[in-house]
Amino acid sequence: MVELGKKLFFDPRLSRSGGMSCNSCHNLSMGGSDNLAASIGDRWQKGGINSPTVLNSSLNIAQFWDGRAKDLKEQAGGPIANPVEMAFTHDLAVAMLETIPGYKQEFTAVFKKDSIDIDQVTTALAAFEETLVTPNSRFDKWLKGDDSAITADELKGYELFKSAGCVACHNGPNVGGASFQKMGVVEAYKTAHTAQGRMDVTKSDQDRFLFKVPTLRNVELTYPYFHDGAAMTLTEAVDTMGKLQLGRTFTAEENAQIVAFLKTLTGDQPKFELPQLPVSGDSTPRPDPFAK
Ligand code: HEC
Ligand code: HEC
Repeated sequence: MVELGKKLFFDPRLSRSGGMSCNSCHNLSMGGSDNLAASIGDRWQKGGINSPTVLNSSLNIAQFWDGRAKDLKEQAGGPIANPVEMAFTHDLAVAMLETIPGYKQEFTAVFKKDSIDIDQVTTALAAFEETLVTPNSRFDKWLKGDDSAITADELKGYELFKSAGCVACHNGPNVGGASFQKMGVVEAYKTAHTAQGRMDVTKSDQDRFLFKVPTLRNVELTYPYFHDGAAMTLTEAVDTMGKLQLGRTFTAEENAQIVAFLKTLTGDQPKFELPQLPVSGDSTPRPDPFAK
């Protein structure tokens, strides 16, 4: 199932243009993100929001910045049918997979059913994504007792991360991802972006501008930062967090120490051969995605 999910993750035929896969925006050689402020989707449309990493996302309480999908399986159906992402439909995606003999065979072997459905597609995608964890960061090694795994400056950064109060929100196994919190606690966040965060889901005014606290694992790789992608560097993101969330202005030295600590959270990146995608069948043409 994981191997099947991996193929689907890399398969651009799940998009209307036939040119965009999950990996286009969650590039596994780029920390599971696209390093753009806002993703580029179907027909070069600019997407609405910064793409969060898929690495370790199984550890998050919910998926998306506003948590509107409860888990990876529920999330995975979204981008295929999202008009500014892959811009396909679930029916067309399934019909396309049905025309590919290699997929047909693999789906039958995994799910033991006569036909493919979107539920199987999202189940396999989620199973693959669950494998995208990044163990053995230097910080993990330090936690396990290897005192030489992090430097004195990085350790000072960790002490500051705790004493300044970052841990109130960025905590747990994913150093984040465990709660929804307000962006701009002490001082309001200035952005032209229209996302209202959690309020878009709950419709409750109390949830205005609450976002899922991002994981800080691999954060060194997943620039730019924040839901609007406005902070290009970790230095800038840490400065903003200090001021807006904690009412604290870090000195250049303190900022650099926290940034140094954050870089110890980069773990082993997923490593595998790119999957061999099943070839399209020649008997049945690919369904015309532009047909009504
Ligand atoms: C065009 C770019 C694009 C494509 C293609 C795309 N995504 Fe995303 N993905 C995003 C953006 C942007 C978000 C954040 C959306 C939001 O929070 O409203 C996101 C969010 C996610 C999340 C939530 C992560 C978290 O921590 O909240 C997961 C998981 C994910 N995508 C997996 C996938 C999978 C699986 C596919 C392929 C079926 C896919 N994405 C295709 C851009 C993309
Ligand atoms: C009150 C909760 C809270 C506190 C305290 C807090 N953060 Fe955050 N942090 C968030 C939220 C929420 C976001 C996402 C905001 C957004 O995108 O609009 C975030 C985003 C970030 C990001 C960007 C991650 C990304 O992938 O975009 C970094 C880096 C970060 N925080 C570091 C820190 C540091 C360092 C501290 C302490 C100085 C800190 N945070 C304190 C809630 C908090």
